[in-house]
Amino acid sequence: MTATPERFDSQKRLGAPVAILAELTHRCPLGCPYCSNPLALDPREDELSTSDWTRVFSQAATLGVLHANLSGGEPAARQDLTDIIAHCANVGLYTNLITSGIGLTQDRVNELARAGLDHAQLSIQDSDAPSADRIAGYKGAFARKLAVAEWITQAGLPLTINAVIHRANIFRAGDMVRLAVKLGARRVEIAHTQYYGWGLTNRAALMPSRTEAEVAIAEVEALKKALAGVIVIDHVIPDYHARYPKACMGGWGKRGLNVTPTGKTLPCHAAETIPDLEFWTVRDRSIEDIWINSPAFNAFRGEDWMREPCRSCPRKTVDYGGCRCQALALTGDAREADPVCHLSPHHDKIAEIAAQSEDAGGVPLYNYRRMKLREPAE
Ligand code: SF4
Ligand code: FES
Repeated sequence: MTATPERFDSQKRLGAPVAILAELTHRCPLGCPYCSNPLALDPREDELSTSDWTRVFSQAATLGVLHANLSGGEPAARQDLTDIIAHCANVGLYTNLITSGIGLTQDRVNELARAGLDHAQLSIQDSDAPSADRIAGYKGAFARKLAVAEWITQAGLPLTINAVIHRANIFRAGDMVRLAVKLGARRVEIAHTQYYGWGLTNRAALMPSRTEAEVAIAEVEALKKALAGVIVIDHVIPDYHARYPKACMGGWGKRGLNVTPTGKTLPCHAAETIPDLEFWTVRDRSIEDIWINSPAFNAFRGEDWMREPCRSCPRKTVDYGGCRCQALALTGDAREADPVCHLSPHHDKIAEIAAQSEDAGGVPLYNYRRMKLREPAE
């Protein structure tokens, strides 16, 4: 298939994807209990080679993709990361490294910057060191991350801090914003946990109560106003306490595509949980062919697949019926409205799960990801 961008514009009323998320590896030293990677992680020996990835990024740039998000696992676990970034820069992609920071040295950060890296997103697990190390399952992770943040800003790279909020750190959501300011970040993403992958297996240990969520949301929203002009705060509020769902991925097959470490292309990180979808691979198809023709990308594009109440709802072009993976996980059918929506006939399931979190207490025990290099911190 060699369709040109003009041809797919007219035939499918599709634009090019804005961004490609490259999961360069599932290897990671951390074991975060909300990790969105699948429960069955891709082994190192099956990962795409350097030349596979450079071909993918060349094809993406030709198609009109603007951003390359380099993620994992921990992308720094790939020895060829500098070469990959240099290639992305050569073909005109804006490169964003999404990293835990573990495995980076100051020399390596400088090398990545020289290769053409445009931006770095560093995760933190908490603003309190012992808690952060426990959540990450890695002793000393927090101290290391503070050093990495300094190396990133010293290299002249814009820094974003990513913080995932859940029961163990929700009281410090505001402190994490203040820490990001102290670290010289230009942006901080405060995102309440999404329950996919490992997050779903750990949901009972992660979900805060409604009151805890409301207090944290109010604090972060107040900081958004107070720190305007100092730092940009992206605030992703918790689904389970909302009235309407989010437009997951900005709409299925509409804005971006994910490539797994072994080359499978996914419309979202959890798409493999949906049975009977056919995922094409970059090993034998071009990015353009996949974007236009892949059965998985076309499965929930547009509105034809929708059922009531979405089909006749005025918000269907705003939230696209919410998240397909959440609809599947909670109703057993990916074509249903996301049950987060109060109009969904399955909305009572959300209320039931949210109510369970009111009773949660004590120190949460996590089911850690397995593909890590050290034992969890005590
Ligand atoms: Fe969104 Fe469907 Fe709910 Fe309407 S009914 S708000 S389209 S999820
Ligand atoms: Fe798959 Fe939302 S995570 S559509």
